[in-house]
Amino acid sequence: MTVSSTEQPGSPSPLKARRIRFSYPDGAQRQHFADGQLVASHMFAVLSGLFPEGEDFFIRSVRAHRGEITDPAMMQAVKGFIAQEATHRQQHKILNERLQEMGYPTARLDRHLKHLFGLWEKVLPEKMCLAATAAAEHYTGMLAEIVLNSDEMQDMLGDSDIRSLLLWHAFEECEHKAVAFDVFRAIGGTERMRKAGMVLIQATFLPEVIIQTARSLAFDRAAYNPVRLVRSVRALRRSPLFDRAAMYRYGSYYRNDFHPDDWDTTDLLAEWSKKLFDADGAQRA
Ligand SMILES: [Fe+2]
Ligand SMILES: [Fe+2]
Repeated sequence: MTVSSTEQPGSPSPLKARRIRFSYPDGAQRQHFADGQLVASHMFAVLSGLFPEGEDFFIRSVRAHRGEITDPAMMQAVKGFIAQEATHRQQHKILNERLQEMGYPTARLDRHLKHLFGLWEKVLPEKMCLAATAAAEHYTGMLAEIVLNSDEMQDMLGDSDIRSLLLWHAFEECEHKAVAFDVFRAIGGTERMRKAGMVLIQATFLPEVIIQTARSLAFDRAAYNPVRLVRSVRALRRSPLFDRAAMYRYGSYYRNDFHPDDWDTTDLLAEWSKKLFDADGAQRA
């Protein structure tokens, strides 16, 4: 893999896009790349399928309000956010092409999401799109933190470049988890609309992941082995993604005066920065 950093010298924001190239050699991965787990592999493939159109929507939602931002530090953070999400989008597009070849229907999911986000942008005010983005970033930041905190989740990501990509993405999601939220507040977004954004995300994101994972499994012959399917569902259900602590975290967004930094990830980011990147910000091999 090759990497270069685009950190802006003197920036008040630590956010930066790291240009990273992962390799997915043909035939080098098991189809069930998530440690052989059937349902987890399909769910991770669906999550990857959500990212290109999802992150494009996040970028458009934040960019639409750039003219209203007066704080230079926030403007710098927005630039870093957009640069990071654009890189995630690009890398997941490449991964999704590979996943499609491996039998995961990511291309159809991509078309479906393009239509869905296009519809949202037609019918919802721009501020509501930003509220939905801030809420979605609560999910991505939380999922990222769970992955970075859990050896079990890291083992579940397998041992290929898919794991490397997801760890890098998780790190940057933790880094920029408050940017869309802070922009929403800075432009006068109300608590009521902020929570409504989460209702919208919960009403669409969770059903989408469940339905799309089920559809993806329907095209996999291995899923027609009921013993393997049930074991795989149970393993995922027992994972840190669905334990009591995670449920509490998902719901914390509805607290009055919630802020993403209420969950401090400073130490976690410092630890993973050393594991993933060298002193110049380039990814360790
Ligand atoms: Fe991202
Ligand atoms: Fe993000």
